[in-house]
Amino acid sequence: MSSPETKPLRIAIAGLGTVGVGVMRLLETNRDLIAARAGRAIEVVAVSARERTKQRGVDIAALAWEDDMTALGARDEVDVVVELVGGSDGPALALSRAALAGGKGLVTANKAMIAHHGLELAEAAEGAGVPLKFEAAVAGGIPVVKGLREGTSANALTRVYGILNGTCNYILSEMEQTGADFGETLAEAQALGYAEADPTFDIEGVDAAHKLAILAAIGFGARIDFAAVHTVGIVQVRAADIAQADALGFVIRLIAEADVQEEADGPRLLQRVRPCLVAKDHPLAPVDGPTNAVVAEGNFSGRLLFQGAGAGDGPTASAVVADLIDIARSFERGDIGAPFSMPVAQLAALPPAQAGGRTERTYLRFTVRDRPGVLAEITAAMRDADVSIESLIQKGRMHDGGEVLVAMVTHEGPEAHIARALELLEGSDSLTGDPLVLPILPA
Ligand code: NDP
Ligand code: HSE
Repeated sequence: MSSPETKPLRIAIAGLGTVGVGVMRLLETNRDLIAARAGRAIEVVAVSARERTKQRGVDIAALAWEDDMTALGARDEVDVVVELVGGSDGPALALSRAALAGGKGLVTANKAMIAHHGLELAEAAEGAGVPLKFEAAVAGGIPVVKGLREGTSANALTRVYGILNGTCNYILSEMEQTGADFGETLAEAQALGYAEADPTFDIEGVDAAHKLAILAAIGFGARIDFAAVHTVGIVQVRAADIAQADALGFVIRLIAEADVQEEADGPRLLQRVRPCLVAKDHPLAPVDGPTNAVVAEGNFSGRLLFQGAGAGDGPTASAVVADLIDIARSFERGDIGAPFSMPVAQLAALPPAQAGGRTERTYLRFTVRDRPGVLAEITAAMRDADVSIESLIQKGRMHDGGEVLVAMVTHEGPEAHIARALELLEGSDSLTGDPLVLPILPA
């Protein structure tokens, strides 16, 4: 006689693209191993996508099909719905709400949806006593949600930061290694399945911001506040900046970082995503290609580094199926746990940190006219804004237009002073384009 815990866990998958097909392949390839570890089989019983007849390289003929994916949430035989469609709202959200309302567990890789609606969905899951899991939503195959939710749960975290977008990391490291241009490497990242359906989410830093908002909520026991993430993408980074950074002993990476600092009126949460200069001896500097890495600093654990593939079918499927195995082990026992590090009602509502209130070293790049006095004008603005220059490079004419590149690194100082220096230079006829400001990641 089979007990409830040895019955297969029956799942429905919405979305049969890169990740959905990866999940089906993984469940098939590692079927016996997964059943042994989960204590029971995990069986796909129903699927949905846009086009039923599309060739996907996996056999779905024997599975129930729903044209309207929301209907998966109402199917009696389904225990858990796996949402692999994407998009913060629309059908993915409708399905997720329907699944939880229908008493199904929910597994999703959808960081946009969790960043925008994670608290609502978590409350619905807590209310229904069903699991909501989203390991694959942050850093693909790296178990960093589990790492922060469970592994560092005894710590007060001081800081969480890292590389959270595989597409940007692929582009920046390819540009660094091959000198290829931005557009060409973005097209490669799309062809390899790393990029979002709308790749502007990757290159403008929005995807990393979604992931950071989720990690910050877990790491600091705070309510998700995606709107407060200060976000700058990589579109302004030129091959010349990568070359200058290299000459100065740095690489450029898109860094997402969060910390909580005590300010005059209490603790505040800083969340930002920005391209940064990373010293070549920093543990994040060798992280290249679509690899992601997260550093978490706990008051007892010390510095932890999580690193691995942040995108792609296999690694992302690995995270999705790990969530399913957790559910298969615990669902019938009601041993579910809160989706975040604590029940939603107990998460702190931390106000965002004041803008410009920190100190840092900064890389500044100007493109300027090649004429006498330009360098003096820039350095005078630095002096007047109380910015101290550590090193400065002027690179010869970039092309026939007589434009030169001036790059400098400042000593550590208030962010507000850099902003003031740029204000002083605003509208200057000597500048041929907007300056680029990249912070230098502290050691
Ligand atoms: P894809 O674009 O490859 O696949 C999306 C799937 O959803 C397709 O099967 C598509 O159907 C289906 N779909 C899209 N819109 C609709 C709709 N309106 N109605 C019905 N079906 C729809 O996306 P990915 O597999 O790359 O991503 C899925 C999720 O995983 C996203 O949330 C993404 O952010 C996340 N993710 C992706 C990673 C990656 O490396 N790709 C890594 C980590 C997370 P059809 O095939 O018929 O067109
Ligand atoms: N587009 C995302 C990335 C996929 O490039 O990191 C993984 O979340």
